[in-house]
Amino acid sequence: MATMESLIGLVNRIQRACTALGDYGGGDTAFSSLWDALPSVAVVGGQSSGKSSVLESIVGRDFLPRGSGIVTRRPLVLQLHKTEGRQEEYAEFGHMPRRRFTDFSLVRKEIQDETDRITGKSKQISPIPIHLSIYSPNVVNLTLIDLPGLTKIAVEGQPESIVEDIEKMVRTYVEKPNSIILAISPANQDIATSDAMKLAREVDPSGERTFGVLTKLDLMDKGTNALDVLEGRAYRLQHPWVGIVNRSQADINKNTDMIYARRREREYFATSPDYGYLASKMGSEYLAKLLSQHLESVIKAKIPGIISLINKGIDEMEKELDHLGRPIAIDAGAQLYTILEFCRAFDKIFKEHLDGGRPGGDR
Ligand code: GDP
Ligand code: NA
Ligand code: MG
Repeated sequence: MATMESLIGLVNRIQRACTALGDYGGGDTAFSSLWDALPSVAVVGGQSSGKSSVLESIVGRDFLPRGSGIVTRRPLVLQLHKTEGRQEEYAEFGHMPRRRFTDFSLVRKEIQDETDRITGKSKQISPIPIHLSIYSPNVVNLTLIDLPGLTKIAVEGQPESIVEDIEKMVRTYVEKPNSIILAISPANQDIATSDAMKLAREVDPSGERTFGVLTKLDLMDKGTNALDVLEGRAYRLQHPWVGIVNRSQADINKNTDMIYARRREREYFATSPDYGYLASKMGSEYLAKLLSQHLESVIKAKIPGIISLINKGIDEMEKELDHLGRPIAIDAGAQLYTILEFCRAFDKIFKEHLDGGRPGGDR
């Protein structure tokens, strides 16, 4: 039996197609509803809570811009594709599809440059996402959206309104009922004051689509621990909390290797007197698997809805194509035609998943 493409991989491709179509059409089409219907994981948290570090741990690579102030100023839609065998890892941007990046320091630079291309050097924020795909045997299939960090005060030269603008932008992602919220809070601050949990509580009061992540466990005061949070007593969620130990600033300055950092994190939990009994459910590798499995099961449950939206899109496009007239000579028509073909292909593969998909899907 031919291997089926993973559901997350399929949804990744539709999300990219919807973005392309959005650039072309812009309006309120079946494709914007399709985009809204597709689940994705939005990463939220206060500035310096450890969002970038968690993302890099999940990927196992250094590739995000760092620094003080508001570093993430456009949403970054990060699609992870698991490849088989010993293939070399590489990255590709949506805005330059033909270039393969194998040097991840250049990925970091391109994120910075592409951010500045839209926002200028003004340090303003923009809701226009950057699309980045990473192909690697060391990742799980997963789509994550990195968002600007929530802040309470504007910094160096930024307008006062930036605090509100960031919150508004983050909110548009997390308030969608299909959004899965990866809420990052640092363990060395009172969870009651966490920006991430404050927002998550507002948009998801029952905690059914929020995954709580507690970073910086290693930075807690001696003699204290975070068991009340990790065991779900301090803040109740439907999914279990995951504790994380990322690289410290000193580790980053020393260029500590990500794979080494992952191993050290595993050892931290395995040998911890407080968290040892939870060790198999802690750490960034566990978090990545948990999210991937959850995302896949959510997508599975939505297949019938996705199929009907795709078909609605196909109808809309056929009408549009009739209107343009065939054969298609102009760019817009050609683009529509390509997407139409692509949607028909999707319709078929999703139906296969629906009828004959192996349980647990294809990983
Ligand atoms: P972001 O602003 O939310 O993206 O946060 P970063 O991931 O950039 O992290 C901010 C700072 O906290 C960096 O200096 C990280 O090295 C440090 N940091 C993040 N997570 C941890 C952790 O679990 N332990 C330690 N010791 N430092 C961490
Ligand atoms: Na926070
Ligand atoms: Mg960051």
